[in-house]
Amino acid sequence: MATNLAPVTKVSDKLKEMLNKAIAREIQVSIQYMWQHVQVIGVKGIAVQDQFKNTAIAEMKHAEKIAERLWYLTGTPTTKPDPIIVGESLQEFLELDVKAEEEAIVMYKAIIDLAQKEKDVTTAFIFKEILEDEEEHHDLFTTMLEEV
Ligand SMILES: [Fe+2]
Ligand SMILES: [Fe+2]
Repeated sequence: MATNLAPVTKVSDKLKEMLNKAIAREIQVSIQYMWQHVQVIGVKGIAVQDQFKNTAIAEMKHAEKIAERLWYLTGTPTTKPDPIIVGESLQEFLELDVKAEEEAIVMYKAIIDLAQKEKDVTTAFIFKEILEDEEEHHDLFTTMLEEV
């Protein structure tokens, strides 16, 4: 019966829309950081090249995790990233990335709040874990920016 296929957790369209916004930005930063890794210039840049790559991979894993959750909640994950801005210098890369992480932190706190209101414990849990990563990324990029 069809009811057997229904998700255990039912959530609002608003929450599903927010998960899709989160996916759009995870794809965005995943590409943004990877292209910064590729395009990084100068001695200081080479020293931190792997940080961009490793963070890009972490963001793609977030996109996967959120997409799996959204799919389970009967939503269709978007394939469209938010606008990607790579930047033209190491300083500009890092300024853009600090801003991107700040936006993620604000957005993911709002998702956690709404998921908790809707008693979707799993989505709240997933985003608490991701939020911890984003705070680490924010700290990393902020520290790197101080050294530029
Ligand atoms: Fe992320
Ligand atoms: Fe991040």
